[in-house]
Amino acid sequence: MTISLKSFDPPKRVLMGPGPSDVHPRVLSALARPTVGHLDPTFIGLMDEVKALLQLAFMTSNDLTLAVSGPGSAGMETCFVNLLEPGDTAIVAVNGVFGKRMKENVERSGAGCVLVEEEWGKPVDPDKVESAFKAHPEARLLAFVHAETSTGVESDAKSLCALARQYDALSIVDAVTSLGGIPVKVDDWRADAVYSGSQKCLSCMPGLSPVTFSPDAVERIRSRNRKVQSWFMDLSLVMGYWGAGAKRAYHHTAPINALYGLHESLLMLAEEGLEASWARHKRLHLALRAGLEAMGLSFLAAESCRLPQLNAVMVPEGIDEAKVRARMLERFGIELGAGLGPLAGKIWRIGLMGASCTANNVLLCLGALEAELTALQAPIRTGVAVPAAMAAL
Ligand SMILES: Cc1ncc(COP(=O)(O)O)c(C=O)c1O
Repeated sequence: MTISLKSFDPPKRVLMGPGPSDVHPRVLSALARPTVGHLDPTFIGLMDEVKALLQLAFMTSNDLTLAVSGPGSAGMETCFVNLLEPGDTAIVAVNGVFGKRMKENVERSGAGCVLVEEEWGKPVDPDKVESAFKAHPEARLLAFVHAETSTGVESDAKSLCALARQYDALSIVDAVTSLGGIPVKVDDWRADAVYSGSQKCLSCMPGLSPVTFSPDAVERIRSRNRKVQSWFMDLSLVMGYWGAGAKRAYHHTAPINALYGLHESLLMLAEEGLEASWARHKRLHLALRAGLEAMGLSFLAAESCRLPQLNAVMVPEGIDEAKVRARMLERFGIELGAGLGPLAGKIWRIGLMGASCTANNVLLCLGALEAELTALQAPIRTGVAVPAAMAAL
């Protein structure tokens, strides 16, 4: 390959896929501030603030709350490697791509995995989870995805965490797509380990994974028989780095500028208010929905479990979904997501997350989608989507 010797100048996109979402200009500008040392007293102060802001976002007073230096998958792996030991049994609920990834994590930790499977597009069924606990009383952990990005489905986190407690197990909750977009009430749910990602409803760049652990989870980590197999993710070591105040010990060099970015995005969330952010995601989802339904399009998920920030929309019969996405990107700069696994070719995933969740984007997306579907002679109603969305706004 020949090297261009030119700086990379990315095109202007409107990120309306499953993530990353648009990064807010305030975050971009925070990222460009001068780098300080990772043990600089000012940076230690910033880490303390990030922790406090994450506690606010997660609605928790958990002391072990921090940002893992790595993407959502690193947060996921941190939870599994610290809470499981070889020979343990974990129940994993799978209703999409990310539940399957959890299963991989359990198996690679040397633990046994009991799967509770659900059709893609449906929420995790607490009754099936309860049956799994009854059949496997030795299970020490329940893991599930709160907001399945592959299907646009929300599962009932509060009930599932309560079941785990009832059967004396800890819970691991994937809140990568939910944090900031819909309620994630860690203390109210009594969830034990929750991980998220910076690149979805937090309007931040990809690459950091906020996590939080309950006192029971910390106790499980402290009473392990064996060392965590991953040195980098071993929380007993990371705790010394993210611990209180100036007593920090070097563990790894934190992604300093990325943490400036996360700090700015969490500050914006605190300024907007959690409830207001959830309400914005809901309101704009309802406007998008009004437009899509006016066109004659439908959703994969039932209304009762539909995520506002991830809209899984059925592709009309006979339409090449990839062609529509390619044209949306080329002509309007809009990125939409494709279906994964059994849903490949059947759905589009339209994200309304964080800074991408705006009225302008809803109207732009509806207008562009209508134009492209009309060009492909799809059987849709024309001229009604944007007015329907406007009316809903
Ligand atoms: C629900 C869910 N879990 C985990 C992940 C993994 O996050 P990352 O891609 O940042 O590693 C994603 C990413 O889209 C996700 O949507």
